[in-house]
Amino acid sequence: MALFGLGGSKSTVALDVGSGLIKLVEMDHSKGDPVLSRVAITPVLADAIVEGEIMDPGVVSDAIRGLLRTAGIKTKKVVVAVGGRDVIIKKIQVDRMKESDAMEVVRWEAQQHVPFDIEGVELDFQILDPNGEGLQMDVLLVAAKRDLVEDKMGLLAQAGLEAGTIDVDSFALHNAFELNYPQAMDGVVALLNVGHEVTNVNILDRGIPLLNRDLSVGTRMFREDLQRERGLSVEDADQLLQGYEMTPDLQPSVQNRGDEIAVGLERAGAFLQTASRAGAAIQHVFCCGGGARIPGLTDVISQRVNVPVQVASPLQRLETKAGVFDTLNADEVGPLLMLATGLALRKN
Ligand SMILES: Nc1ncnc2c1ncn2[C@@H]1O[C@H](COP(=O)(O)OP(=O)(O)OP(=O)(O)O)[C@@H](O)[C@H]1O
Ligand SMILES: [Mg+2]
Repeated sequence: MALFGLGGSKSTVALDVGSGLIKLVEMDHSKGDPVLSRVAITPVLADAIVEGEIMDPGVVSDAIRGLLRTAGIKTKKVVVAVGGRDVIIKKIQVDRMKESDAMEVVRWEAQQHVPFDIEGVELDFQILDPNGEGLQMDVLLVAAKRDLVEDKMGLLAQAGLEAGTIDVDSFALHNAFELNYPQAMDGVVALLNVGHEVTNVNILDRGIPLLNRDLSVGTRMFREDLQRERGLSVEDADQLLQGYEMTPDLQPSVQNRGDEIAVGLERAGAFLQTASRAGAAIQHVFCCGGGARIPGLTDVISQRVNVPVQVASPLQRLETKAGVFDTLNADEVGPLLMLATGLALRKN
């Protein structure tokens, strides 16, 4: 499922344009199983992207151009994603019919479920039980504000690129998890993507995305805590946050922000219990993004929600071409490549 697609070549180049880092992943699809063939990462100037909104397209498109140049990428076609509160994912039920007839009905139904003008929306859907016998079928509806899609395409155009596919964040994460942690497709699990400004919460029930929420917590807030409360410089704060040890300086921020994330997760879980399957509780949490490795964070979340929380990397089961991580530490950058890897799993 994708909001927009062209299709074609043997390898896919994906860009995850975050507010802290732009991540590029190239995946070779020529051998059947995907092989990770290139990775490149570049920082984004502070405040060029705020809460997903691109405030300074010139700065961001220059960073993208530079990234492609240093990575030696020639292709002009890339896969990107949209996400956030202007993307709605919802499981709905409609009368059973052929997929080719369903778009019109889904569009009609979508008007009840999408809180913005349906005329300004890109829609897609997937029938979840295509071989079911019942009179009704489960359909996963995806709606994204067209502005969001157009802004992304505009950004790419400014960087001299075009969108091969525009995916949705939570589907890309889902695809990366399906490949690397097939056990995440059993039962009810939460995927947390702790980024620079935002933590995405995705809850899956037997692999079907039931709920996605964004919490306004990310590595930037941890860093600001350390600057404000401990008097640390940006560099010293980042060094602690990207390090391996819990220290007295780190402890209070990790405890407070970790609790904040855990509360967001608990709320999402509670909403899920009332809104959908009675008794379905989150059984396991997987954590990715640049904040996943903050020392002690997964422990704080785990203590509060009382289920196992583990750091997840898209390199867990993915075959990687020799040399890809010659200049990068795979253990350190792995977790922040989850979304870009999921995007690159699509054959563009
Ligand atoms: N090895 C690393 N190199 C650079 N930054 C790292 C590293 N490890 C962790 N980080 C932290 O991860 C952050 C970026 O994480 P990530 O790429 O997941 O966020 P983002 O996608 O840019 O942000 P958002 O999704 O909120 O817009 C950086 O701001 C930094 O604090
Ligand atoms: Mg991100």
